[in-house]
Amino acid sequence: MAHTLHTNLPKSTTIFTSPSCTFVFIITLCIISLYTLHHHHNHQAPATPSTTAQHPPLISAFLNSGSNYTISNYLRHLTLHPHLAGTPPSSAVVDYVKTHFESFHLQTHVTDYSVLLSYHLHSSLTAHFSNTTAAVPLPLTEPGLDSDSEVVKPYHAYSPSGSAYGKAVYVYHGREEDYRALASAGVDVKGCVAVAKRGGGMSRNAVVAKAAEKGVLAVVMYTDNNGGGVERGTVLDGVGDPMTPGWAATGGDVERLGVEDSEVLKRFPTVASLPISAETAALILESLEGARVTHLWKDVDLVGKLDRVGPGPTFLNFTYQGENKMATIQNVFAVIRGSEEPDRFVVLGNHRDAWTYGAVDPNSGTAALIDIARRYSLMMRMGWSPQRTIFLCSWDAEEFGMIGSTEWVEQNLANLGSKAVAYINVDCAVQGPGFFAGTTPQLDDILVEVTKKVTDPDFSDSTLFEKWRTSSEVPMIQRLSDVFSDFAPFLHHAGVPSIDLYYGKDFPVYHTAFDSYDWMVKYGDPFFHRHVAVASVWGLLGLRLADDPIIPFNYLSYALQLQNHTDSLYKLLEGDDVSLHPITSTIQELEDAAKQVEDEIKKMREEESEGRVSVMKRRILNDRLMLAERGFLDSDGIKGRQWFKHLVYGPASESKLGFFPGVADAIYESKEGKKQQAMIQHEIWRVARAIQRAAAALKGQLN
Ligand SMILES: *[C@@H]1O[C@H](CO)[C@@H](O)[C@H](O)[C@H]1NC(C)=O
Ligand SMILES: *[C@@H]1O[C@H](CO)[C@@H](O)[C@H](O)[C@H]1NC(C)=O
Ligand SMILES: *[C@@H]1O[C@H](CO)[C@@H](O)[C@H](O)[C@H]1NC(C)=O
Ligand SMILES: *[C@@H]1O[C@H](CO)[C@@H](O)[C@H](O)[C@H]1NC(C)=O
Repeated sequence: MAHTLHTNLPKSTTIFTSPSCTFVFIITLCIISLYTLHHHHNHQAPATPSTTAQHPPLISAFLNSGSNYTISNYLRHLTLHPHLAGTPPSSAVVDYVKTHFESFHLQTHVTDYSVLLSYHLHSSLTAHFSNTTAAVPLPLTEPGLDSDSEVVKPYHAYSPSGSAYGKAVYVYHGREEDYRALASAGVDVKGCVAVAKRGGGMSRNAVVAKAAEKGVLAVVMYTDNNGGGVERGTVLDGVGDPMTPGWAATGGDVERLGVEDSEVLKRFPTVASLPISAETAALILESLEGARVTHLWKDVDLVGKLDRVGPGPTFLNFTYQGENKMATIQNVFAVIRGSEEPDRFVVLGNHRDAWTYGAVDPNSGTAALIDIARRYSLMMRMGWSPQRTIFLCSWDAEEFGMIGSTEWVEQNLANLGSKAVAYINVDCAVQGPGFFAGTTPQLDDILVEVTKKVTDPDFSDSTLFEKWRTSSEVPMIQRLSDVFSDFAPFLHHAGVPSIDLYYGKDFPVYHTAFDSYDWMVKYGDPFFHRHVAVASVWGLLGLRLADDPIIPFNYLSYALQLQNHTDSLYKLLEGDDVSLHPITSTIQELEDAAKQVEDEIKKMREEESEGRVSVMKRRILNDRLMLAERGFLDSDGIKGRQWFKHLVYGPASESKLGFFPGVADAIYESKEGKKQQAMIQHEIWRVARAIQRAAAALKGQLN
């Protein structure tokens, strides 16, 4: 598909496609013309390959070769049709990515998995209002979507099929505290159909699980401010293929659990659910009588209209029929082999499957990934070869529960565990204005450094860092405890240091039929400069992590962050009879190890400038830096969700703590009435031991 490059070249560059041009001319001239270079297959790379660390002008070549034309063209092609995982149109998108990787002469391959996906067959929702005897059918899809639209009807993947008839009741975010507020106002939700509003830190799965616990028959969920759209999504608990929990669903001879196996069943909700639009929700909510509870809830929307929460008098008649079935999913990879350390991996990943057209989610990221492939390939033609191996990964079936990335991580767990330097994720690359990022803390510094090298896409006289710093919330860098994209298997299961990047947040067309190329051009990124900026930050991070002779990790920043987490925990536990001393003293160990490494790095840099560092000596230091994160893993994992092995960052059941998920769960369970200080203290000890393992790995010596 190389012609797509030509058709989108700015006019001024087309003159350079003339074969009469010499390469020297082109290279000295500039960067835009570097596209052209790519098409001269007779071009010979310089004899000795060099890394960006050895030859810094390669970095400028990378930065200057970004193109909003090219990237917008990729996005337009990727989003021509909806491409839900496991459906026929999704293979066209596989081909698009694969053909592009190949056209850049990158080593390309595709891995298939057979997994259990879940599709919509039939749904209906009718209201029986008290003022009329006729049943009123409520719309379940976006206006303008007719029955033969190629966009899938809104549904919740892995919802059980079922029907329910009951009084409507409003449960706000569906958290424990919301049910408590309802109960204290005398509202009995048993036997009702619940209306829930997405938010409050609750995943869809958590909402239905909690509703089932409370005796609700079925749940309809709406999302505020999504412009008539309906938010599709998965209600699967945890991540990865449900039939192969903890191992890879490769084709052929592989153990698969039965659908009735308790390990499989516990991943599925027991009550049925459907997404609805805010407009449909308003029709129901306006008709409710009964208790007034809404003053307890901040920011109840449908402003002023919602007064009482029911139950009833409106009845809802709910039907959902879905189908869980085996489907083939495909991950696409381009691999750039490291010249010095081919067995050290820097992994850049984005998912490709989409609920609808996927212009924001996820193909703004896919367009950026392809653009990085193009830019890396230009650099290779200029003689670049990375020190470590770079993987560019295009995941499938993320929307069903990070399935493509999880199966791959499970398949390669031992290799990734011993050889992966870092994972850099981009899902919805561009949702609107403003830069956002989450990292594991040893990556904070390198992220900041890289954003200082990239021009802000909206203010060309400023660096991205400068705008990010002045306009961002505090803290600037988020942590990655929540399970909302493909970094989850890398970080939470394999302990690989991770980064997640995006422009804009909370975009209104999330998982709706309106997430289209047109929306992107109108609202998300009219000139595609933000796309280019994300690709630049992402690709530059890849270059630094693959090419820096010493892996650019700072564990002092990890120790500081852990101390900050511990201070927050201390405030939360004030008055409780538990001690945080085990954690504080192991943080001190980690800090000491981090300082020692910093000193060694300084010394090694000096020796390096005199050419006195052996490859082996550098590698020993790098291995300590790479493996320290693995120390936070615990083979028993988080209680009740043991696939999640990371004890510092990972999902807690229902908590806003955002770190130490095991401790968070123990505190949460205590608040449920039973005082369980011993359990909290035990979880504190487990975190302390995890930090100690990380410190020991960083020191790199056996006791
Ligand atoms: C009946 O109540 C519903 C919900 O409040 C309202 O939308 C509808 O207009 C009412 N119909 C009549 C005939 O009053
Ligand atoms: C609910 O709807 C189904 C079909 O959609 C219908 O068969 C059933 O009679 C309805 N139930 C009530 C109580 O109206
Ligand atoms: C690329 O950027 C230029 C300069 O801002 C702009 O004029 C052009 O329309 C953009 N191209 C696309 C496809 O958005
Ligand atoms: C932790 O750091 C954040 C900002 O980085 C700060 O707002 C917060 O107050 C700190 N927490 C504690 C308990 O020191």
